[in-house]
Amino acid sequence: MTAFPITHATTLKAPPPDASLKFGTVFTDHMFMMEYAAGRGWSNPRIEPYHALSLDPATCVLHYAQAVFDGLKAFRGTDGVIRIFRPDRHAARLNQSCERLCIPALDPALVEQSFHALVGLEQRWVPKLPGTALYIRPTVIATEPFLGVRPAESYLYYVILSPVGAYYPEGMNPVKILASERHVRALPGGLGAAKTAANYAASLFPAEEAHRLGYTQVLYLDGAEHRFLEEVGTMNIMMKIDGTVVTPPLAGSILAGVTRDSVLTLLKDWGIRVEERPIAIDEVIAAIASGRLEEMWGTGTAAVISPVGELGYKETRHVIRNGGIGALTQRLYDAIVGIQYGSAADPHGWARAVAPATVLA
Ligand code: COI
Repeated sequence: MTAFPITHATTLKAPPPDASLKFGTVFTDHMFMMEYAAGRGWSNPRIEPYHALSLDPATCVLHYAQAVFDGLKAFRGTDGVIRIFRPDRHAARLNQSCERLCIPALDPALVEQSFHALVGLEQRWVPKLPGTALYIRPTVIATEPFLGVRPAESYLYYVILSPVGAYYPEGMNPVKILASERHVRALPGGLGAAKTAANYAASLFPAEEAHRLGYTQVLYLDGAEHRFLEEVGTMNIMMKIDGTVVTPPLAGSILAGVTRDSVLTLLKDWGIRVEERPIAIDEVIAAIASGRLEEMWGTGTAAVISPVGELGYKETRHVIRNGGIGALTQRLYDAIVGIQYGSAADPHGWARAVAPATVLA
């Protein structure tokens, strides 16, 4: 484990009570930073007090959104051990996002170490209450002050931490999603498979429209035909039809969710049939109407496993399971959360204990 230079904050904040935690509103005392310059590569990895960034108004990220991020969580186990869920997958995905936006690759081992070192330093910020976690937000932005449209020659990698509760105000209560007939998240060949800031900017307008209609989130359909399910923007989508779990394939326009991968792996472990295939919205509506659709849920780091209780499409509200939580949805939630908090077996070694060497007294 690399020991990074640390500049300690001179005043430390008090973490808010666990029961008051929302999502992404409070930040810890320190952040990880490292810069890239053309000809020098990535250099000067370090931990500093959490602080505002000073950017020239011409900084290209502010104009052309050459920015990527990822999101993962650290959990305080029932045994007191702090574990980070699948940091290697998140480090790899961050690099895949970088590649799509012409951002120079980071050393994935160093990225993983940056998570461990920062969480180790900030361990008093990892909340205890079930359902809470310390959210880790690695981000890369282009920092060159330049208005031409080309990849920047300088970048900043930074990691901030935020103690969080449930992402949706509904918590584990089922959410309502609206399948959009008009709005598109991404097209094959576009940015959809990368975790770019631009994808989330594009999602704001459709989400506001959905909120006005009483829905929590938008379920995006494919951009060409507005027919096949894609993803929800903050989570991947899955459902159980006639005993088989079906989910859209990773065909280039949806994000390869780490929770999605974890759930599919668990389902296969449990001997449950899984199909990654195109799913037409008409098939879903028909399966709800005939009672063959048993459960629907979303998967995501922030959302964990989120039951879907209502699907809106073409001005009709289709209620699923009377708005209740399905048995498989609950089983998946319990299994994932059990691994994250160290209270269940972790056969795939997903939950990585924060090394004692990085845990400071
Ligand atoms: C996550 O699940 O970590 C996400 O990135 C979704 C959203 C909070 C941006």
